[in-house]
Amino acid sequence: MSESRVEVRSLKDHVGREVTVAGWCYNARPQKRFKFLELRDGTGTVQCVFGAETSLNNSFERFEEEITQESSLYVTGIVTKHPKHDDVFELDARDFRMEGRSENYPIQPKEHGVDFLFSQRHLYLRSSRPHAILRVRHRVVKAIRDYFDSHGFTLLDSPILTANAGEGTSTLFATEYFDLGQAYLAQTGQLYGEAGCMAFGKVYTFGPTFRAEKSATRRHLTEFWMVEPEVAFMDLEGNMSLAEDFICYIVECVLTDCRPELERLERDISKLEAVKKPFPRITYSDAVEVLAQKGQPIPWGEDFGAPHETAVSADYDRPLIITKYPEAVKAFYMKRDADDPRVVLAMDVIAPEGYGEIIGGSQREENIDVLVHRIEHEKLPMEAFEWYLDLRRYGSVPHSGFGMGLERMVAWMCGTQHIRETIPFPRTIDRLRP
Ligand code: 4AD
Ligand code: MG
Repeated sequence: MSESRVEVRSLKDHVGREVTVAGWCYNARPQKRFKFLELRDGTGTVQCVFGAETSLNNSFERFEEEITQESSLYVTGIVTKHPKHDDVFELDARDFRMEGRSENYPIQPKEHGVDFLFSQRHLYLRSSRPHAILRVRHRVVKAIRDYFDSHGFTLLDSPILTANAGEGTSTLFATEYFDLGQAYLAQTGQLYGEAGCMAFGKVYTFGPTFRAEKSATRRHLTEFWMVEPEVAFMDLEGNMSLAEDFICYIVECVLTDCRPELERLERDISKLEAVKKPFPRITYSDAVEVLAQKGQPIPWGEDFGAPHETAVSADYDRPLIITKYPEAVKAFYMKRDADDPRVVLAMDVIAPEGYGEIIGGSQREENIDVLVHRIEHEKLPMEAFEWYLDLRRYGSVPHSGFGMGLERMVAWMCGTQHIRETIPFPRTIDRLRP
């Protein structure tokens, strides 16, 4: 068997030549004169056609017995162009050689329940839907890095084991840390990003973050990835422009490079094509009025839930930026609005089509007295924040940043119902395996 190994994605460069493709059996359909094998190698799927007359080494006869669903094998054949479709290539197969046999593969080509599929996630990754979604995730991650790297930001890796809460104490995962007491899994890299922006001007952190969220919704994971830019001498206005430009860039990259994946997911591409700058901007107080008009009243001062976000954003075909939330519903570090001390200079970006909050951010409180007061008010342990207060003691400047949840962004891009589909091995309140 010749061993000029080729990936499925590059078969187009080998038309007319004999090659070998290594992969797994996605589907096998033996018929009388021809036997069809859909061979999957991670880069694509190719139809291999074994003919009774042309196949060698009894491969036509061995086909049914040896090639079971998800068995791994090598197939050798001549690359041909599909007679009807220009960009489809096939293998006029001559021979195959088995590598690993698969018996009773648990995922059948029929409808399975979601719970079953996620209990088989280690195998389910091979199916076409998860494959497409995780390819989009990969592209979004690259877009995130490319955007910040090409706009003068320095990547600053923040620690995962931390001594203090970043986003409120109710969602902390704690663990014993030698003689130093409790350590917490980071809910955010932001506080470290703030230190970083005073050193590098513009930084971003990008890594896993953890929230012991007790709510089992389709938007919450206990472990998710967050990218957080932080910029010195930037105000809320600059923060909104950055978020807007950043989102548009990601959407553009996905539209340019992920067409086949979006089509496989039956994503309505026109919805993504509508995402253009500028994004509409309203204040929290305006949003409260809109909700009253829409018959979903909420008292001023209460936080929005998912249904409120969906209702307020329903009028727009692109993300909506809501600013200036009541102090009580936001984190301690947000800067108070000089014009209205009841609100802080926060911004949430709400994705269209009911995808909800994809970005949360703010201008930060740079006044040490106000910040100390806020830490006391929230009953946070002051000693854990001494280093953070130093950032206000030694050359404090206005600064701002935001966090974008990677999985929420990918869920919106792919049009998936539940965020668990957008991460290879999801962690939720009721799932720790596989
Ligand atoms: O709004 P959040 O809590 O903001 C922060 O953590 C800030 N420190 C960010 C910053 O200003 N640097 O979270 C930011 C984003 C949310 O908008 C959402 O996209 C995502 O992180 N997120 C979650 N994604 C999945 N599961 C969860 N449990 C999430 N919690 C937040
Ligand atoms: Mg938020």
